Amino acid sequence: MAVVAGQPRLIVRGGRRLSGAVAVSGAKNSALKLMVASLLAPGASVLRNVPDIQDVRTMQEVLEHLGAVVEFADGTMTVDTAEVQSHVAPYELVQRMRASIQIMGPLVARFGRARVAMPGGCNLGPRKIDIHLRGLADMGGTIRSDHGFVEVAADRLRAINMFLDYPSVGATENLLMAAVLAEGTTTLENAAREPEIVDLCKFLVSMGADIEGAGSSTLRINGVSEMHPAEHTVLGDRIEAGTFLIAGAVTGGDVEVTGISPHVLELFLFKLRSVGVQVQENTRSIKASGDPRSYGGVDVATLPYPGFATDLQAQMMVLLSIAKGVSVVTENVFENRFGFVDELIRLGAEIRVDGNHAVVSGGRSLTGAIVRCPDLRAGAALAIAGLAAEGCTELREVYHIDRGYEQFEQKLQALGADVERVGVGSGPCSSL
Ligand code: EPZ
Repeated sequence: MAVVAGQPRLIVRGGRRLSGAVAVSGAKNSALKLMVASLLAPGASVLRNVPDIQDVRTMQEVLEHLGAVVEFADGTMTVDTAEVQSHVAPYELVQRMRASIQIMGPLVARFGRARVAMPGGCNLGPRKIDIHLRGLADMGGTIRSDHGFVEVAADRLRAINMFLDYPSVGATENLLMAAVLAEGTTTLENAAREPEIVDLCKFLVSMGADIEGAGSSTLRINGVSEMHPAEHTVLGDRIEAGTFLIAGAVTGGDVEVTGISPHVLELFLFKLRSVGVQVQENTRSIKASGDPRSYGGVDVATLPYPGFATDLQAQMMVLLSIAKGVSVVTENVFENRFGFVDELIRLGAEIRVDGNHAVVSGGRSLTGAIVRCPDLRAGAALAIAGLAAEGCTELREVYHIDRGYEQFEQKLQALGADVERVGVGSGPCSSL
C-alpha cells in the first residue's frame, strides 16, 4: 500500500488502558451550519466553542469567497457578512466539503440567488440533494443546472407545507434557513430532529427568527422580514463523545467525556450497556469503563435521530469485533458506509458484509497492521481498533480524521494512549 507522498500518518501502539477525562469540542455538524446561517443577517455574528478542524477552515474559505470577513481564534469566530457580494460556491470548495451546499437556503433567502457546484457523491454513497431542491422550488425558487452548477433564484421565497420524503439533516437545515425570511408560515413535516438542528434553531431565533417545534418532526417557521446578527455557543460534539467512550471501552479503561449532555446519546449509551460496558451519566458528562473479556455482541441499526447515529456505526463495529458472539450491524442511512470493513479485517476482525448488513463474529484479538482511512468516522474507528490491537498500527490518509476531530491524537495521549503523528521519511511500525 503506497504511502501518499508528504502525507502524515498516525502510529498507534496498542495494549494500554485509557483512563481520565476528555473535554469534547464544539459539534462540527452544528458549527458548519451556524457559520452559514450568519449569512441571513447583515453584520457580525459571534460563535463560541467552534472546533478548529479542517471542515471549519473550509467553510471559512467558502464564506470569505462570498465576501464575508471571518476572524477565528481560540474557539471564537466572528462572521461579518456586511460586505457579502457573491452568491457562488465554487467546485474546489464544494468538492472538499459537501456541507458547502448549505449556503443555498440562506443566500436565496437574503439575496434572492445562489449558485453552487453540484456536490456529487462521496465515499458514503450517492448523497442526493433532491429534497433540498424540491423544497426550494416549492417555495418559488427557479432551479437551473448548468456547467456542473445548480442555481436557485427567487425574488422572495414563499411559505410552504412540505412533507420531507426522508428526515434529511441537510434538507431540513437548508429549508429551515430559507423559510425564516419567506413570506408566510412554513411547515416542514418529517423533518430531521438531530440535536444540531435544535442548536441551529436556537441561533436562528436569537437572530430574530420565529420557529416552533425544534427537535420534533414538525417544524413551523413564521417568516420574518429581516434578521439581525447574534451570538451563540456551539453545543458539544456527541459523535466525538461517543468515539472517546468506545476508545475507553475497547482498551478496558475508564474514560469520562465532559461538555456533553447524555440525553443526546441515549440509544448509543443503551447499546454500550447492552454490550456490557459500565456507563455513568452526569448532567454534563458521561463515563464509560469495562472489561473487554466480559463484553457480548448486540445488533445495531443506524437511523435518523433519535435512532442510532450512523456517524458512530464504524466505532461501534470495532467494539463488536472484540465482544464475544455474533452481532448484526445494519446501515440504514447511507448506501455505502461499510467501505472501512476490509481495513478492520486487516486488523484481525471477522466481518461479512451483505448489502446494508454486516455480520460481525466477535471475540477476536486484533493485531496491528497498516490501514488506510477511507473517511472521517472510519478513520477514527481504525485508530480505536489500533488501541485495542496487539502491536503497532499505521494509519494512512489521516487527513480524513483532521476534517472532524480537533486535537485527536493529543486528546488520546492525554488519556494514556501511545499514539503519534509521523511525517514523511520516518519509518512505519517496526513490526510491520
Ligand atoms: C449530515 O449529513 C452530517 N453531515 C453527516 O455527518 C451525518 O452522517 C448525516 O447528516 C446523517 O446524520 C453534516 O452535518 C455536515 P442527510 P447530510 O441529508 O446532511 C439521503 C460526519 O461524519 N438524501 O440526512 O448530508 C442521502 O443520500 C458526516 O460528520 C436524499 O436522498 O445527511 C443520505 O443517504 C457524514 N435526498 C441520507 O438521505 C436529499 O435531498 C442522509 O442524508 C438529502 C438526503
